[in-house]
Amino acid sequence: MSRFFLLLLLTCFPAIRTLFAQSSVIDRKIEALLKKMTLDEKIGQLNQYNGDWEATGPVTKDVDDKLEAIRQGKVGSVLNIMGVAHTRAFQEAAVQSRLKIPLLFGQDVIHGYSVTFPIPLAEAASWDLPAIERSARIAATEAAAGGVHWTFAPMVDIARDPRWGRIMEGAGEDPYLGACIARARVKGFQGNGLGNLDAVMACAKHFTAYGAAIGGRDYNSVDMSLRTLWEIYLPPFKAALDAGAATFMNSFNDLNGVPATGNSYLMRNILKGQWHFSGFVVSDWGSVGEMIPHGYVADKKEAARVALTAGCDMDMESRSYIANLPRLVQEGKVPVSLIDDAVRRILRKKFELGLFEDPFRFSDPAREKAVLNKKEHVAAARDMAERSIVLLKNEGHLLPLSGELRSIALIGPLVRSKKDMKGFWSLDVGPLNDVVSLYEGMQQQAGNTILSYAKGCDITDTSRAGFAEALSKAREADVIIMAVGERADMTGEAKSKADIHLPGVQEELIKAVLSTGRPVVVLLMAGRPMIFNWTAEHAPAVLYTWWLGNQAGNAIADVLYGKYNPSGKLPVSFPREIGQIPLYYDHFNTGRPAKDEKDLNYVSAYTDLLNTPRYAFGYGLSYTDFKYSNLQLDKSSLHVNGSISVSFDLQNTGKYAGEEIVQLYLRDIVAQPLRPVKELKDFTKLRLNPGEIKKVSFTIDRSKLAFYNDKLEYITQPGRFQLMIGSASDDIRLEATFQLLQ
Ligand code: BGC
Repeated sequence: MSRFFLLLLLTCFPAIRTLFAQSSVIDRKIEALLKKMTLDEKIGQLNQYNGDWEATGPVTKDVDDKLEAIRQGKVGSVLNIMGVAHTRAFQEAAVQSRLKIPLLFGQDVIHGYSVTFPIPLAEAASWDLPAIERSARIAATEAAAGGVHWTFAPMVDIARDPRWGRIMEGAGEDPYLGACIARARVKGFQGNGLGNLDAVMACAKHFTAYGAAIGGRDYNSVDMSLRTLWEIYLPPFKAALDAGAATFMNSFNDLNGVPATGNSYLMRNILKGQWHFSGFVVSDWGSVGEMIPHGYVADKKEAARVALTAGCDMDMESRSYIANLPRLVQEGKVPVSLIDDAVRRILRKKFELGLFEDPFRFSDPAREKAVLNKKEHVAAARDMAERSIVLLKNEGHLLPLSGELRSIALIGPLVRSKKDMKGFWSLDVGPLNDVVSLYEGMQQQAGNTILSYAKGCDITDTSRAGFAEALSKAREADVIIMAVGERADMTGEAKSKADIHLPGVQEELIKAVLSTGRPVVVLLMAGRPMIFNWTAEHAPAVLYTWWLGNQAGNAIADVLYGKYNPSGKLPVSFPREIGQIPLYYDHFNTGRPAKDEKDLNYVSAYTDLLNTPRYAFGYGLSYTDFKYSNLQLDKSSLHVNGSISVSFDLQNTGKYAGEEIVQLYLRDIVAQPLRPVKELKDFTKLRLNPGEIKKVSFTIDRSKLAFYNDKLEYITQPGRFQLMIGSASDDIRLEATFQLLQ
C-alpha cells in the first residue's frame, strides 16, 4: 500500500485509525515485555500442556506438577480445560509467574459448547451461511463465558473419503462451499473481534491436506499434486485467513513426504509468506514429536528445530520445544530471532484478548451462569438442526405426516438415544438430559396419535432376537419411523472405517419391517455418508439426519410433521460402494468418458458398478417442487475484467412453502491444464411460498473463471464456458454457454 493511500485511509476512517493505534500500542508493549523475558520464559510461551482432566490424544506424563510449571513461566497455554472455576485456578498460577504472563485456554469447541449443535458436516448440509455463522457465534459466546479463549475450530479440511472418520468435522468435498463455510465459522467464533467478551480465537485446521489421507485411514500420508493442493485443499484455509482467523493448526499427515508440522513450504512460504498471516500456528496434538515415528527426524531435539524453523509457533503436548529449544539456541542451531517471532505472535493474541489488562476477564461465574443454555441458544440449535436434515426420498408424498394418524411405531436402536444425538466432538458441559431424543421429540408433537416403540436390534448387533417385537409393533401401526445408523463414537478422530455400510443387522431390520407392507420412513443418523443401497431402493421415505445435537428429536419431529419443510442438500457425494471412493463431482472427464450408465465399451467405467454416486453432491429434496425457467445472460461474452449478469426465474410449484438451494456450476470446456466437468461457483438459498416466483441473479466475473496452471499461477484462459444452474450437481435445470475473450 502506498504511503499516500495509507495516510488517506487513516484520515478518512477513524475506525481504521483506532485499529492502527491499538496495534502499535500492542507492538510497543510486546517489545517491552520481550526485553524483560529470559530465553526460558520465551520458550515457555511456545509450550502448550493438556489440562488435568480430559485428553484428546496420548498424554505425555513427564511433568508431575503442571501448576508449578505454570508458576515458573514454562507454559504459554493449556488445552482441554473448561469452566470458569477451573480456568481461574490455572490462571492464578500464571499470574504468580515472574512476568505474570497470562495463559491461553484452548478447547475443541467444534459444534456448540453447552448447547450442542449439529455436527459440522450436518450444518454444512444447510448451505445456510447466516445460520452456520450464528451457530459458531453461540458456541463462542458460551465458551467465552465458560473461560475458554480459543477454539480449535473450524476444521476446514476438504474430505472426499467417507471412510475417514473426521469427515464429520468439516464442510464436505467442495472447495467453494468449504470456503464460504470456513468464512462464516471464523466470523461466528470471533464475532466483533478479539477483546470482546463473547469472542474466542478461531483456529483454522489442519494445515493441511489432512482430509486426503490415503485409504481414508486417519493420520495417514497424503500424496497429491501441488495444483490439487492449491485448487482444492487450500481455498477454505485462505478464506478462514481472510475472515481474520487468529490461529492455524498444522496437521498429523505428511504431504508428499514432508510432515505438515515440519513443512516450511506450507507454513513459512504459503501461510506466513505469500498470505502474510500474522497470527500463530499451533502444532496438532504431539505432532512435533510424531515426526520421529514418521521417520523425518531422529529425536525430539531435531523435531523441535525442524518444526520451529518451518513456522510452527506452539508445541501442543509433545514437550519437544520446552525440553530442547534452550540447548538448540545455545548451540546456535536455532536463532533467537525465530523464537522471538513466535513469542511475539502468541503475546499479540494475549494482548488482543485483553488478558494482560485482566487475566480473569473470562472467569466470571455470574456471566457463566447467565449465558450458558439460554433459551435463544436452544431455539437456534433446533433451527440449525432442522436446516441440516436432508430429504433423500419421499415416494408418494408419504411425508409430511398427517396429524390424524392413529398410531406410529418408532423402531430402531437410535430412537431413544440421547448420547448419540450429540455426536463426536461434543462436550459434556450441559447435562445429557438436555438432549431431546427422537422419541421425546415425537411425544411432544404426536397429539392423539399413539406411539409405540421397539428397539429391534443394537447398532452393531449380529442378533435378530429383537426383530419379532419390532415386527409386531410395526404391524399395528399406521406408519413406522425407523431410526438407524451409527453410535456417536463410530465417526470422528481415529474412527476411520474400511466398511461404511449401515452397521450390524440394521438393514435386515429395515427389510423385515418393510415386509409388513406398512409405510416406512427411515431416518439415517450418522457422522459420515453410509452405504445403504437396499434401503435407498426400497424404503418409500428416507431422511439423512446425521447427528443433530441437543435438539435432534424436536427438529426431526418438526420435519416429519412438516412444521419445517426440509431444505438441506448433501455437501458430499454418497457412494454406492466403497470401491468408488474417493468419489467427487468435480472430476475430469477422461479421454474415454462413458456415454451413459450402460456404456462399457472400453470407457472409463466399472464393469460391476455404476460410476455415479448413490446421491450426488448438492442433492436434497423438499416437500414442494421448484421450477427453473427463463435463463438470461446480459451478454454472451466477457473480457477478463468484465462480468456477465445471469438471471432466471424460480417458482415454487408445489403445495408447501419451502426453501431451495440454487447452485451455479461452470465448466471451462477446453483448457490446459484440464478443468473439471463442473465446479460449484455460486449458490443462494431462497424461500418461496406456494406459487411464488422469484428472480434469481448471479454475476460471473474473473473470480469464477480463474484457476491454477501447472506453474501454480492463477490464470484465466480465453474460450467457451458452459454455465449450469440446478438443484443438485446431477440435476441441472438450465444451461447456456458464454465466451471469455482474449
Ligand atoms: C486433533 C485436533 C484437536 C487436538 C486437541 C488432536 O488430536 O487432531 O483437531 O484440536 O487434538 O484436542
